Amino acid sequence: MAKTVLVTGGTGTLGKLVTPLLREAGVTVRVLSRTAREASDGIEYVAGNLQTGEGIAAAVAGADTVLHLAGTQKGDGEKARTLVDAIEAAGEFPHLVFISVVGAERVPVESAIDRQTMAYMASKRDAELVVENSGLPWTTLRATQFHDLLFTMVSAMGKLPLVPAFDFRFQPIETAEVAARLVELTLGEPAGYVAEIGGPKIYTMKELERSYLDATGRRRAVFTLKAPGKASRVYAAGANLTPDHAVGERTWEEFLAAKLAAA
Ligand SMILES: NC(=O)c1ccc[n+]([C@@H]2O[C@H](COP(=O)([O-])OP(=O)(O)OC[C@H]3O[C@@H](n4cnc5c(N)ncnc54)[C@H](OP(=O)(O)O)[C@@H]3O)[C@@H](O)[C@H]2O)c1
Repeated sequence: MAKTVLVTGGTGTLGKLVTPLLREAGVTVRVLSRTAREASDGIEYVAGNLQTGEGIAAAVAGADTVLHLAGTQKGDGEKARTLVDAIEAAGEFPHLVFISVVGAERVPVESAIDRQTMAYMASKRDAELVVENSGLPWTTLRATQFHDLLFTMVSAMGKLPLVPAFDFRFQPIETAEVAARLVELTLGEPAGYVAEIGGPKIYTMKELERSYLDATGRRRAVFTLKAPGKASRVYAAGANLTPDHAVGERTWEEFLAAKLAAA
């Protein structure tokens, strides 16, 4: 019988690229979503919410592997806890594969300011620990920021008359390349923390903003801001970067040109 993979977050930017690859690999794909949906393209949808726990028991039933991609800006530790508790309550023992972010274990989120600026990093770290201590066979991949996310960021900031850029750097990676690696890991054996995955080049936030403004013909000044707090300082020093794992192939420039041409 074909292996059944539950994909949480299968409707998201990353998840939508993962599910067709899993289908091509011949596995049965089930997607968890907060919105009820009809099955399509051979994918079954189960309605459920990792914040409330509603529907999660049905989602995890009989899954050989759970690829956990669902996430928001905060509270991912709680979502992972809900998922792991439901798996345990159902008496299942799937391979749990998780996507985290580069730097999650390196950015100290301690003060109230840190929790304002870097809640996301703390939330991913909380979720990593839930996965690691779940008692299930597990694999976690840490990735740098996706091109799609940074495009959303620069295009939103680019609407402002004066464009602020924090003193951060990013190593953007093509979302499809992360999806392909996750599929390999999902079809493979549990491996704990695997080598991080990062894009081919590192840019300042200002350079990313500038490239978008120039490519779209917007005449705007970009000014750099120092983000407050210790967590931001560590982030600005490069905790979110993985230059030794710059394995991504598609550059930001290639992504941006294609994205704007398609718009
Ligand atoms: N974007 C990046 O640069 C980046 C970098 C490294 C790691 N990551 C991680 O990669 C993952 C996917 O990112 P993405 O950009 O694809 O996110 P996204 O497009 O915002 O999608 C988020 C997904 O999470 C699901 N979700 C959110 N809250 C949920 C809840 N309470 N219960 C069940 N499902 C819920 C959504 O499903 P429904 O709306 O259908 O319910 C959606 O499919 C996230 O965990 C993120 O932290 C992202």
